[in-house]
Amino acid sequence: MAGSFAILCGNANRALATAVADNVGVPLGDAVVERFPDGEVGVEIRDPVRDKDVFVIQSTAPPVNDHLMELLAIIDACRRASAARIFAVIPYFGYARSDKRHGRREPISARLVADLLQTAGTDHVITIDLHASQIEGFFRIPVDSLTAVSILSDAMKRRLAADTVVVSPDVGRLKMATDYAQNLNTSVVLLHKTRETGAEAHVTHLVGDVRGRLCLVVDDMISTGGTITKAVDKLVEMGARPEVVVAATHGVLLGGARAKLTAPPISDVFVTDSIEQHTEGWPRLHVISVAPFLADAIRRLASGTVHSELAVHRT
Ligand code: R5P
Repeated sequence: MAGSFAILCGNANRALATAVADNVGVPLGDAVVERFPDGEVGVEIRDPVRDKDVFVIQSTAPPVNDHLMELLAIIDACRRASAARIFAVIPYFGYARSDKRHGRREPISARLVADLLQTAGTDHVITIDLHASQIEGFFRIPVDSLTAVSILSDAMKRRLAADTVVVSPDVGRLKMATDYAQNLNTSVVLLHKTRETGAEAHVTHLVGDVRGRLCLVVDDMISTGGTITKAVDKLVEMGARPEVVVAATHGVLLGGARAKLTAPPISDVFVTDSIEQHTEGWPRLHVISVAPFLADAIRRLASGTVHSELAVHRT
């Protein structure tokens, strides 16, 4: 199998791509992805990819536009070098929150990204916990949206008390929260969130009972930390135990998020390495690797035994 496919990456998360390649048992392909003095992206793929299936691992994490352009340029280079099929492995899919128009004269940027990926030559997309599953419909090519709920649940089991309740911070995460609750054999509480701006959210209602319980707040991503902070404030106001655990697939963790997430009553934060993380000075940030999980998906896709098995991981 090793000769028939290649794994490449850009600069978004080389550590994850290396771990995936190690797990699959192939060397990471040799590709130079650099910046020209004017900021343009330059790509040179040094290994031949003719007639190979190529898996390009690149999260479109901040700086989102740079990483997206790197991904598009690598895909274009592979297509021009006669790759057989090109798989865009995008553990964190940026622009996914722009999946609909909230008002007039706004773009649907997730659709634009889907068009760009297909125009560049992508044959298949693999992603994890896509913010909105309907984004799959923006593509004419197969999209496998896997979920990290099981691996995060397994990682947290020992940390959680028997009376833990899973909290969905908004209605959009209810399905994910229900999946966590099933894995952890507990129940779900729903918060209703309204968002005034990209950085300002308010919780208006709580459905369920959190009195005296340990709360596990789950989300697909933590960006500024605003959603989590508002959720935690509401939970405490409604009588939850002042000890909250947080889990999110994608730790975007912009400036300021760390200060919010290390303040009591938040105790532990679990994220995956879909985005590169730095845990120095934050011992209670637990980073769970999706590398074995992605390696498994790549192995199955490359060997053509994919579909029924991948379905197990789908959101
Ligand atoms: C929104 O619907 C998402 O699922 C997240 O809740 C949100 O994007 C997190 O962003 P922030 O951390 O900035 O509140």
